[in-house]
Amino acid sequence: MTSPRVTTERSVTVAGRRHSAEPDWWRRAVIYQVYLRSFADGNGDGIGDLEGLRSRLPYLADLGVDALWITPWYPSPMADGGYDVADYRDVDSLFGTLDDVARLLAEAHERHLRLLVDIVPNHTSAAHPWFRAALEAPPGSTERARYLFRDGCGPDGSEPPNNWVSAFGGPAWTRVTESNGHPGQWYLHLFAPEQPDLDWSNPEVRADFELTLRFWFDLGIDGFRIDVAMSLIKDPALPDLDRPDPVLDGPSRWADGHPYYDRDAVHEVWRSWRRIADTYDPPRTFVGEVALTSPNRLAAYVRQDELHTVFNFDFLKSPWEASAIREAVDATRSALDPVGSPSTWVLSNHDEPRHTTRFGFPDTGWRHPLLPDQGEPDLVLGTRRARAAALLLLALPGGAYIYQGEELGLWQVRDLPDDLLQDPTFRRSGHVIRGRDGCRVPMPWEGERPPFGFGPEGSQPWLPQPADWRAYTVAAESETRASMLELYREALRLRRSEAPLRSERFDWCDSPGGTLVFERGEGFTCAVNLSSRPLALPADRVTILRSDDTAGAGLAPDTAEWFRLPTP
Ligand code: GLC
Ligand code: CA
Repeated sequence: MTSPRVTTERSVTVAGRRHSAEPDWWRRAVIYQVYLRSFADGNGDGIGDLEGLRSRLPYLADLGVDALWITPWYPSPMADGGYDVADYRDVDSLFGTLDDVARLLAEAHERHLRLLVDIVPNHTSAAHPWFRAALEAPPGSTERARYLFRDGCGPDGSEPPNNWVSAFGGPAWTRVTESNGHPGQWYLHLFAPEQPDLDWSNPEVRADFELTLRFWFDLGIDGFRIDVAMSLIKDPALPDLDRPDPVLDGPSRWADGHPYYDRDAVHEVWRSWRRIADTYDPPRTFVGEVALTSPNRLAAYVRQDELHTVFNFDFLKSPWEASAIREAVDATRSALDPVGSPSTWVLSNHDEPRHTTRFGFPDTGWRHPLLPDQGEPDLVLGTRRARAAALLLLALPGGAYIYQGEELGLWQVRDLPDDLLQDPTFRRSGHVIRGRDGCRVPMPWEGERPPFGFGPEGSQPWLPQPADWRAYTVAAESETRASMLELYREALRLRRSEAPLRSERFDWCDSPGGTLVFERGEGFTCAVNLSSRPLALPADRVTILRSDDTAGAGLAPDTAEWFRLPTP
């Protein structure tokens, strides 16, 4: 390969000037999530790749985002869409090569886009050389000590070591066959059996991840999104849980002392990672996927010497109700402010039902569209709310995440044929929970019929795109004045040009029940009407941007407006 080091160092220097002028860029960045398999397919095999992504960088720069978070590109058998990593320091040939990464970095930096990539430290793939070696080696070996192998319970060891269940359904333990051909030990996997959990009390595991961080930082990567950042450390006693059912209930009720969520020792790992990130110029950054419902526990992950930011799942999971959203905003801000970390706001990602769909159900709680028998969502209503939510998202202080396709108003595809579903959740829930494929359908770029420019004409995307997306392609929406895309473009442009939106100021204004109104300084105000009645707004205001195309004094239900009040 040509030397990516040399190429990227040049780009880092170019970008470095900008970086040093703006060392805290991550405090208010808009980060666009690229679900690589579904973004753009450069070679026509139906799967998104680095070449495809590179060809679409002009679109992303023009959209006006600051950085990209790219889902895992590492070699992987793809048992969980690449969150099963077989080699942390290479690229899967499905996506490209290390050279492609170097080119992508250079071109992204030229366009002032920073790149974060996913890292998956909780588990490897079962195809990782470490796990293969562990299977070959006997119980008690150093090879097995990198993972969590245990003897089973019961006289013949045929019961799992404890009652933990996998996040995708079924037991969190799988029994192996030993080299003598007999059933033997069990290994832990909080996710699919193809994703064995590492033992983070093993120094070798820690050291190897530090090498991985340096490998990508040396190449010029600006930071990492850390997968499952709250679960690395397990209670060494591996005790039974009283009511294990994370698939349907989430971790929330295990507030303290849970055997694998949020154990104190996990913070040592983030401190050591931060020390490495800080040795780089410009310093590299981290965003943690920390799925905890207590904002105070969340705050511990973003102390000065730990991660820079964490995702805000409280906000993502809020129903479309003013009081719930206000509570989520307040709880987040009051927990994070004291540690000096900015909030990050997110409405959708590759694991969650698309919010245009969620907001179109009578119950706007987050999990419903994944379960069967919910009836049909009202997508007109959901889209109207999603437009208002976009103005809310982009007016809040701190950072924001946009999940690819959200800027087009794409919806959850709920009628994918069963035999095409790839999310392990579908199989492991006994075909009850359809899983996450419906929010991962490949992006529509242009044209009248699939693949809508996702790949070359005639190629077949890995999941079929709805024919209706012909009106939701980037090209079609670019020509439609009131499209979702134009709304996002305009909001992102204003987010850069309006000084109050770059400030840290934030004050709620008094407003009627069911509405959210806040000021960001200099009279810049965001009003969102989540009630069923019109909201009267001051007559002397100057409208900056509206989520619907009506004009007038009142704000209709499920719409939002940015406006400025004359300063006294
Ligand atoms: C995270 C990822 C999800 C993946 C899981 C296991 O939650 O976002 O896609 O399935 O971790 O790695
Ligand atoms: Ca491809």
